[in-house]
Amino acid sequence: MNRTYKFSKRLALRAAICLPALLLNLTAAQAEPTVEVLHYWTSGGEAKAAAALKKDFEDHGGKWIDSPVAGGGGSAAMTVLRSRVLSGDAPTAVQLKSPAIQEWADQGALANLDEVAEKEHWNDVLPKRLQTLMQYDGHYVAVPVNIHRTDMIWANPKLLASVGATEVPKSWDEFNTVAEKLQAKGVIPLAIGGQPWQETILFENVVLGIGGTDFYQKALIDLDEDALKSDTMKKVFDQMRTLRGFVDADFSGRDWNLATAMVMNGKAAMQIMGDWAKGEFLAAGKEPGKDFLCEATPSNDGYLFNTDSFAMFDVSGDDKIAGQKLLAELIVGEKFQETFNLLKGSIPARLGVPMDDFDECALQSEKDMQDSQVSDGFLPSVGVDMALPGALTGAIVDTVTSHFNSDMASESAVAKLLENINLARD
Ligand code: GAL
Repeated sequence: MNRTYKFSKRLALRAAICLPALLLNLTAAQAEPTVEVLHYWTSGGEAKAAAALKKDFEDHGGKWIDSPVAGGGGSAAMTVLRSRVLSGDAPTAVQLKSPAIQEWADQGALANLDEVAEKEHWNDVLPKRLQTLMQYDGHYVAVPVNIHRTDMIWANPKLLASVGATEVPKSWDEFNTVAEKLQAKGVIPLAIGGQPWQETILFENVVLGIGGTDFYQKALIDLDEDALKSDTMKKVFDQMRTLRGFVDADFSGRDWNLATAMVMNGKAAMQIMGDWAKGEFLAAGKEPGKDFLCEATPSNDGYLFNTDSFAMFDVSGDDKIAGQKLLAELIVGEKFQETFNLLKGSIPARLGVPMDDFDECALQSEKDMQDSQVSDGFLPSVGVDMALPGALTGAIVDTVTSHFNSDMASESAVAKLLENINLARD
């Protein structure tokens, strides 16, 4: 046996031992990071922001499979999600919010993101409150994109000026007076789409404005019986009835972005909606302060927040797992948080992102958010599912929409609210 033969035999043996491992590493290294993203960002502004996320992911070598489900507020998307998970075909990444994040995690459906969180120092770069919202049992299972607020009025300055109003109303009484003047001139004062979540956004703003931040906390977060059946809650429904009178006849079923377009096009004077509405104005090339006004709804320094986030579902496949890690990492990236939020109308979820390019509405939001944290007025929105588990949110939403779409008296609405909440509690 010559030396060459002995050498090649040794080599063959070594190769036999090492090759499977080598191949495995190679496959893992070659796995193309892939995500199928289930989301409901389909309006003009939303789609631009979603496209920025897709681009960032693709620029970093990822493969993005887009699964949009139209329907503002996301209830259609959540229905699709439930059926996908039930049929054993969970999407890799889903636009999801806390407390739904915790509900899915509780069922063991979500993947653990601690490794990325540690590598990317999420505990240092994300606000404490958001860290908690993204975790289940002390582990990261979701990643935050932004901070939106729902307590905003979007107004057409020309229409307001036509009745002598130089700024957005600062109290509900002033709102009613300006709205009556607009109506007398044949202008629709309030643009809204008759969809339960939009009506609930209106409702939560009235709760905050008439009751104040403590009342909001007691009634809509703690679900305190005395607060729920109080005179203040009756006044809230009275104001909802007044607001119903300022809405046009064709409001049923209208999408939120079409209501925004009414303000943009001079068909209606104001919309009360989250600051994703700003994304619509911007996507249409409109300028804040000139073409549209933004102002927080009347309250004692409250701030109704809404954080969009992505939860990664527990799926198998090296490509998918690599995709989830890459997506999670990119979402918290400083540059991405800036780019995305400039388009979406929100402000960054990450701390320390430069705000130089953000407009006056975003800077106001940032300031109001800081102030609200000092005064305990930083409160989750009910209308976009940030405050309560699904069944309890549903109890509030159902009451609000039944009242808004009928001639139900305020006393009956108050009784119904308590009854629905108690049923959902059981
Ligand atoms: C919210 C979501 C926002 C916005 C809005 C309208 O639930 O958090 O990002 O897209 O729905 O679709």
